[in-house]
Formats: sequence, structure tokens, C-alpha cells
Amino acid sequence: MAVEATAPGKAILFGEHGVVYRGPAVVLAIDRRARVVASERADGRVFFDALDLGFSGYFEGETYVPVYGQPWRGKNLQPLLVSARKTMEHIGADSGMDIKVRSEIPIAAGLGSSAAICVATVASVGELLGGSLTPDEICELAYEGEKVVHGTPSGVDNNISTFGGVLRYERGVGIERFELDGALPFIIGNSKRKRSTRRLVERVRRLREREPELVDRIIEAIAQVSQDGLAALKSLDLPRVGDLMNVNHGLLASLGVSIAKLDIMVHLSRGAGAYGAKLTGAGGGGCMIALSDESNLENIRRALLRCRGEPHIVGITYEGVRTRRID
Ligand code: PMV
Repeated sequence: MAVEATAPGKAILFGEHGVVYRGPAVVLAIDRRARVVASERADGRVFFDALDLGFSGYFEGETYVPVYGQPWRGKNLQPLLVSARKTMEHIGADSGMDIKVRSEIPIAAGLGSSAAICVATVASVGELLGGSLTPDEICELAYEGEKVVHGTPSGVDNNISTFGGVLRYERGVGIERFELDGALPFIIGNSKRKRSTRRLVERVRRLREREPELVDRIIEAIAQVSQDGLAALKSLDLPRVGDLMNVNHGLLASLGVSIAKLDIMVHLSRGAGAYGAKLTGAGGGGCMIALSDESNLENIRRALLRCRGEPHIVGITYEGVRTRRID
């Protein structure tokens, strides 16, 4: 017997970087999912098959033994190992495990692939061992795995992956979830440039140290855009959402977190008919996101391909983590 769990990735629509200091971030669950299949194995090992990502191997105690791929890949697997172990601890079980990981979510691109994989790992291992975990428990256990990668992340990624939908997050205020009354077509463009969230947050912090008043005004403006953006999103006022996305991109660029390729992708998307376009996530590479009518999606997709971006037409998904038994 095996259990498959799937969980969605995410895109930040408004408020990245600002949210580190003040104001909300608005985050969407996107219909690209990570998939984890867990089954028990008798020899006590925790075996990971991540062949899509180019590696497989197992842990005996804390030691990673590669079967395929480089030994340092064990580091990539730490969050999954922690997620699986914390889940077993939580339900008072201890078993060897085969964990197969597949994902439609581009990695290291700010689309929440690590959180989605952690959430799906917790859900599949939990269900397999008869844990009957609630979504809140899944979310908290996945956060333990996330901490291994990101230090002390905000918790947005594991929340959106567990529950799906649209989420507002603000430091010291917490997380609020929303449903929208209509489907919104977004297109994500992956610049395929790797980046580190930690380094980009650090860059903004240093700029703020040098120019505190100026940067605080930009952060204030991001908070305003994010707040207004959520209101526009709720009333499905797409032209206004687009305007605010454009302003948000300009503010992020002024903080120094855009790159030429993202700027080009953003401008080409607007030229191809998007209501608005901006970088999404930490910047410095990773992805941009554009909002468009259905009729312009293909134009935008072609424009992104022309500048060697990787386009993904996505919708918001309200389907959070899901598990199913496979016999
Ligand atoms: O890691 P990403 O690309 O999803 O971006 C995180 C968003 C930031 O605001 C830049 C950092 C944070 O912790 O909120």
C-alpha cells in the first residue's frame, strides 16, 4: 500500500520585500503541484527517489548514501527527511520509508516548490501511518522541514501549499485566507536565473541602512500598493490590479532587486497586452507574473519565449493538500 499526496506551489502577487518590514503580502496558490508517494519499507531506511531532479539515495541515521547523483544532494533532501521524521514522531510511529518525489513546480524560482514538497511529504507519510492529520497539523509539521532550508521563514509558503487559494500575510497580524468569485488567468515567466532569497533580503537591508528615509518611503508605498491590490483583486477589478502590479514592479526595481531579464520580460508582457506585470518573489532572477485576459495569453506566452523566458500559464487553485491511497 502507498499514499500519494499533492500540494500546490505559490506566487506572490503583491508586497514582497515590503512584508519583511511592514504591510501585507498577497499570495496565490497556483495550479502547479508537487507530488509525493510514500510507502513503508522493512529495512528501516528512509529512501528518496527524486529522479526528476536527478538524484536518489537513502538515509541511515543521519548519513546520506547516494544511489544516483552526487553525495551533496543529501543536503537538498534534509527538509524532506525532517518533515518525514517529525511526522512519524508526531504520530508515535517509526518506520522505514520509500518516498518518491515529483514536481511540476520549477525549483529555486520563488514558486514555493520546497514548501509544497514538504507539505506533500508530511501528508503522505501521515496518512500512510494512519495519523489522520488535520490540515493545521500538516502545515505545522511541514514548517519544521521548511526551517531547515530557510531559517525562520514567514510561514506563508507552507500555509498556501496546505490550504490553497489566496492569502494575505502581515507580520505580527498573521494569515487570512480568501476566495475570489472568478477565475483569473495569470502567466508566470521563469527567467531561469537562480537566486537566493536570503541574499536579496540582505541587499535591501543594506540599502535601507544607507538610505533609511528613502527606503522606508518605498516600503510604505509597497504596503499601500499591496493593501489596495488585495481590494482590487477581491472586486475583480483587473485593470486596477494590473496598474498596481506595474507600480509594485517599479518599487521593487527601485530597491535593486530586479534584473535586466526580468525587466525585459515584464515590459514585453505589458506590450503583448497584459493588464500588468511584475517580478514575483525575491527577484534577482526567478520569475515574473503577468495578469491578462484569456485572449492575450498566447501573445504573452510567445513574447516570453522570444526573450528565452520559460512561460507557464497558471490559474489560482483552491485545492490545497490532497491525499489518496494507492493499492
Ligand atoms: O523566496 P521567495 O522568492 O518566495 O520570496 C520571499 C519574499 C520576500 O519578501 C522577499 C522575503 C520574505 O521572507 O518575505
